[in-house]
Amino acid sequence: MKDLLNGLKSSINRRSFMRKGLTAAGAATVGAGLLTHSSSALGQEGPEEHSGRLTKGDAAILRFLAAAEILETDFWVQYNELGGIQDSEVPGGSGIAAYTAALKVLDGDMDQYIHDNTEDEFTHQNFINAYLASKGADQVSLEQFRTLPGSSATGSSGKLRLTNLTQLTLDTSWWTRYRSRTKNPDLGDTLPQAIPTLAVGQHTAIPRTDDDLNDPNFLQAIANTAAFHFPTIEQGGNSLYPSLAQRVTHVEVLRVVLSIGPTETAHFQTWHDKAGNAPPLTAVDPVTGVSVTFPDLNSPPFGGEDFQTNLIMPEPCPFLSRKLPVCSIIRPTETKGAAKGALNFLTAMGLFIGQSPEFFAFLRDLAEDADEARRGRR
Ligand SMILES: [Fe+2]
Ligand SMILES: [Fe+2]
Repeated sequence: MKDLLNGLKSSINRRSFMRKGLTAAGAATVGAGLLTHSSSALGQEGPEEHSGRLTKGDAAILRFLAAAEILETDFWVQYNELGGIQDSEVPGGSGIAAYTAALKVLDGDMDQYIHDNTEDEFTHQNFINAYLASKGADQVSLEQFRTLPGSSATGSSGKLRLTNLTQLTLDTSWWTRYRSRTKNPDLGDTLPQAIPTLAVGQHTAIPRTDDDLNDPNFLQAIANTAAFHFPTIEQGGNSLYPSLAQRVTHVEVLRVVLSIGPTETAHFQTWHDKAGNAPPLTAVDPVTGVSVTFPDLNSPPFGGEDFQTNLIMPEPCPFLSRKLPVCSIIRPTETKGAAKGALNFLTAMGLFIGQSPEFFAFLRDLAEDADEARRGRR
């Protein structure tokens, strides 16, 4: 809690600094990420987005969610190009047979699920942006930041990307968080990692080049990393929507947020189940020398309530107060600083390695505006 408050304070300081810096130097670049912005407010506040018939807070929350969905779409597209099903619903790429097969070691339907998750993210970003426009509010575009090379393996479309799937550091504590009956991060608790080696060093979740297909053990490690990246991301969305919903003003915007959020939960639940099927192995990345170990989560020192792979339903945990009875819930759902927290989570994951300072400034601005939203305030 103290960390969260400190984080908030420093984010406020950074905000005023950044807004000033923005006015002096970066306003044109950063503001260009939005379709339009008013130049009249540049003096004090930096670029001010139009909210149209929405409250300023509702528009800011939706714009941050649109950006998050654009980023989700970008990396799901990469997964679908290489390991999903490329068709008219989700076009792009031509697949890598060996990577797709390694993913299917976890479940024969992995390619279908990757395809469907990718399509869902497309519809989330498209809908939220179209809804903003329908209310006369500014939309979000990140196209100017599409600069990362992505995979050059045969099967990739070779398109430029917004996100980087080749240097991931994954926090897999959600695994134990959803199994714990006594701990909740909203009450200040921390939880152990399921795959400790994924939480250190940088790991690729996709074949970077055709050379990554040479060693079947390393290729399985790449597929296992992807399989843990999927629920790591989706549990984030699963918390982000209810966290932000608490500060929405209009009932229809609340309906939008409450209707999209639970599909992230559906994704998370599916991927949680599949990750448990990752075959135990140790592999060393031939390019970076980084080692990863996928332990048998059902055997000591793992196993038991906190690790057993078929315990995929959320265990009840303390909620709001330890004096109240435990409850099976989504957690965390703290609303203070939720957008900034989500951005920090994605950044710490390495998803944006290689992105420009302007990209981070733009996303930080969207997050800070979303975190300033207050229920009932115009
Ligand atoms: Fe989504
Ligand atoms: Fe998602």
